Amino acid sequence: MYRLAVLLSGRGSNFEAILNAIKNGYIKNGEIVVIVSNKSDARGLSIAKENGLNAVFVDSKGKNREEYDREVVNVLKKYAVDYVLLAGYMRILSPYFVRSFKDRILNIHPALLPSFKGLNSQRQAVKKGVKFSGATVHFVTENLDDGPIIVQSIVPVYNTDDEDSLGKRILKTEHKIYPLAVKLLTEDRLKIDKGKVFVDWDEAKDFYVTNPKIGGKDEV
Ligand code: GRF
Repeated sequence: MYRLAVLLSGRGSNFEAILNAIKNGYIKNGEIVVIVSNKSDARGLSIAKENGLNAVFVDSKGKNREEYDREVVNVLKKYAVDYVLLAGYMRILSPYFVRSFKDRILNIHPALLPSFKGLNSQRQAVKKGVKFSGATVHFVTENLDDGPIIVQSIVPVYNTDDEDSLGKRILKTEHKIYPLAVKLLTEDRLKIDKGKVFVDWDEAKDFYVTNPKIGGKDEV
């Protein structure tokens, strides 16, 4: 059983999706051992508590980035965490953090990376007039939104979209691909080679981006 930590700052819907996937047996080889947040009022922390999970608020007040991250890394070590899942965690990780969990941190980003890195990706996509966008689960490196890509989902972008409508469409697919990525990770089916992820798809290929259930109009 791999020991997972989820780091979040807000709503926590991706955390919920992963938790449900563990509960219903889709993710078999991982358990969430701690949830950490930099926001005391994050909805995700309440969900964690309601589910009887360890929920830790780490206050960032008066600490520089590395001091803060050292505190978080200490919490993760205390819980003997194997993998760190960033799920709406609104802080940039210090090199110290990334090196402490090298190739063991995942993030989800609401765009088809390498497009629209950083904040407000949905707004950037609408503004640019792209015809498709989506979500990306990737390993975290020291460069923002730049690590090896594990899975992506695709959604159409309509002329009538604003960032909210597009964001909702993307979010639905996030809730599928993040659990998928965690499933693959905890079944040792991901290999990183020269900055690329190679996936042992097997039956999981049914859930890959080509499946209309993830990207298609039926689901949006
Ligand atoms: C998601 O859109 C995710 O892609 C981005 O932050 C948002 C978090 O949403 N990194 P939630 O807290 O998981 O509901």
